[in-house]
Amino acid sequence: MRTEPLIFELSKSGRQGVSMPPLDVPEAELPADLCRDSLPLPEVSEVDVIRHYTRLSQFNHAVDTGFYPLGSCTMKYNPKINELAARLPGFAQIHPLQDEETVQGALELMYGLQSYLAEISGFDAVTLQPAAGAHGELTGILIARAYFESIGDTGRTTVLVPDSAHGTNPATAAMAGYKVVTVPSDKSGNVDIDKLRELVGPDTAALMITNPNTLGLWDENIDEAIRLVHKAGGLVYNDGANFNAILGIARPGDLGVDIMHFNLHKTFSTPHGGGGPGAGPVGVKSHLIPFMPGPVVERVEGEEPTFRWKWPEKSIGKIHSFHGNFGMHVRAYTYIRMHGAEGLRQISEDAVLAANYLQARLKDRYEVPYDRRCMHEFVASANRQKKRGVRALDIAKRLLDFGVHPPTVYFPLIVDEALMIEPTETESIETLDYFIDVMRQIADEAEQKPEFVHAAPHNTFFKRLDEVRANRQLNLRWVPEESTPAAAD
Ligand SMILES: Cc1ncc(COP(=O)(O)O)c(C=O)c1O
Repeated sequence: MRTEPLIFELSKSGRQGVSMPPLDVPEAELPADLCRDSLPLPEVSEVDVIRHYTRLSQFNHAVDTGFYPLGSCTMKYNPKINELAARLPGFAQIHPLQDEETVQGALELMYGLQSYLAEISGFDAVTLQPAAGAHGELTGILIARAYFESIGDTGRTTVLVPDSAHGTNPATAAMAGYKVVTVPSDKSGNVDIDKLRELVGPDTAALMITNPNTLGLWDENIDEAIRLVHKAGGLVYNDGANFNAILGIARPGDLGVDIMHFNLHKTFSTPHGGGGPGAGPVGVKSHLIPFMPGPVVERVEGEEPTFRWKWPEKSIGKIHSFHGNFGMHVRAYTYIRMHGAEGLRQISEDAVLAANYLQARLKDRYEVPYDRRCMHEFVASANRQKKRGVRALDIAKRLLDFGVHPPTVYFPLIVDEALMIEPTETESIETLDYFIDVMRQIADEAEQKPEFVHAAPHNTFFKRLDEVRANRQLNLRWVPEESTPAAAD
């Protein structure tokens, strides 16, 4: 473990990381307004730069360096073949403004991905434009709004959102101009169907439901919930963040869902977070196709099929520059082709098995408030440990000492001291057993030496950070040591 201080100021006057070839063209004056003496760029050697960035990368946890059971985020391993495909010059070096004829391969790939996603989920069409799950949600709810406007049904002012939902669901509904009405969960972790029956009505535009839900449970009331909302003339939006649990097993479109987003950066193994950008395609049923964002890729049949852009007649417009994050489309397409239909089903079966294995082996040490067979993740609670002064956050920090990324903590909000654990299908039995051993050890420590857990992490380069300050006063900007305010502009 490194102990020397983090050295950030490496610049030494006159040091260079590049050797420029001799000038073989006439020297020219650079336009004066483009040159600033006051811009002190760091002067560093190549090895300084490489070591600096490699070192920084190692201060953080990554799915390539360790287990990452961050519930609801599906931090599965990202196969490197996805990266190879995305870097093929025919994909990486094209421009979105090129003529359709010159990018037929890219269009065919996007059409293929749209079609695969539609087939896997049971929807009639898919747009690839949204850049993330939350963006997909907004796109979906704007489609719903446009649909109601087009049929003159203007009295629908509310969106129903279960209390277990991710915060992006109510935020989306509010951004789209709807009043958010919360639906409680029942004792088994399903949407409370009696309450839903009371709340649904002629003012309901949509129910935004997550299934499997954020407790990691299949909603046993899903059929009835969909029936109730449709009977009242509303639409059903499924937050598809947890799609990794049901690939090849259940199709939300077949259940009656009208709209769903996919998180390619969860289910379909494209990089996440700092490794992003993401992609949140949206699938819709046939009655909503005219409202999709444009343009979408269309296949034109012929001796040789061709592909072209098409605008849906009543499109809500564009919701991303050009066509979305195309590099992510290539990665997800590669992943789907590599696995095939049977492989996709196996992904979900293995993800569900791994989560149930962890739940079964940890529930004697950690409370599991909704103790029934889980899907691809489960929610435990640190309530028992809290009595000894050890909170979910302390357990999360202690896990870092063992090279394990913490689970999601304090979400969903309806579970006290929540620890939301999602192992994914890409971990070996040895890794799962290691995690179990570590979690059991932390439970022992919480009983025997709670202050030690409370002070964790002990082995990481940085110890416990002030997370509120890090969020509120985020400072990502390097400013040279001797710079004046003018030089920092
Ligand atoms: C259940 C659920 N819905 C929506 C989202 C939002 O997805 P994104 O982070 O891609 O915007 C998340 C993200 O973690 C989620 O877990």
